[in-house]
Amino acid sequence: MSAIQKGDLLYEGKAKKVFLTSDPDLVIQEFKDSATAFDGTKKDTIASKGIVNNSISCAMFKLLESKGIKTHLVEKLDDRNMLVKRLDIMMVEVIARNIAAGSLVRRLGFTEGQILDPPIVEFFLKDDALHDPLINDQHAVHLKLASMDELNHIRTKAREINEIMKEYFLTLNLKLVDFKLEFGRHKGEILLGDEISPDTCRLWDVETGKKLDKDRFRFDLGDVEGAYQEVLKRVVGKEG
Ligand SMILES: Nc1ncnc2c1ncn2[C@@H]1O[C@H](COP(=O)(O)OP(=O)(O)OP(=O)(O)O)[C@@H](O)[C@H]1O
Ligand SMILES: [Mg+2]
Repeated sequence: MSAIQKGDLLYEGKAKKVFLTSDPDLVIQEFKDSATAFDGTKKDTIASKGIVNNSISCAMFKLLESKGIKTHLVEKLDDRNMLVKRLDIMMVEVIARNIAAGSLVRRLGFTEGQILDPPIVEFFLKDDALHDPLINDQHAVHLKLASMDELNHIRTKAREINEIMKEYFLTLNLKLVDFKLEFGRHKGEILLGDEISPDTCRLWDVETGKKLDKDRFRFDLGDVEGAYQEVLKRVVGKEG
């Protein structure tokens, strides 16, 4: 375990805090228990969510690294803190969808549960004030969020990551319905950043169809903490 110290607060988001360290190339992500939905209009605290999401994210980044996907993970420091490479985050949220749910159903009238083969990859502008709108490649290029080459790169990576995680979660009896990724630039490379957790993925139990993700909070389905703990138990159980 490295002796790296937490420095000044660089940024506080809705679910995490990002701190500087003594190494300009490294920052610390601290995972909070705060939960928000619908662009922050719904707020609450989910006990130990931060601990769960830090653990699951670390496990997923390690899995992806073992399959050749470059991520920002350096090491898990403790229950709530992850040491990561400091990225120049692209303000493009990349969402991959295997099964229709969430805004795809609301926006385009797909039936929730409809299988999407091949999977759909969408880009959203990471801007709460504009409610994270759906964008296409030309919007992103003209908004100077990324070059066309970078967009093609992160789209390809999202598809690769989807195949790896879809297969992995099935071994845990979980359907990977959809998930959100954030990428960033680091020394001329593009790395996967942020987190991968029940906050950023939709996960349904294969047998029961039970939703084991942030939708339990979004739609007051109850047993939110239990769902997060259940995913952690399956991931860590697999890791052990
Ligand atoms: N390796 C990294 N280097 C620098 N910033 C990062 C890195 N990984 C993630 N971030 C940024 O840190 C912030 C983490 O905070 P949090 O997830 O709470 O975000 P947020 O800004 O509230 O927005 P959203 O919830 O829409 O992601 C995000 O803005 C994310 O883009
Ligand atoms: Mg976030």
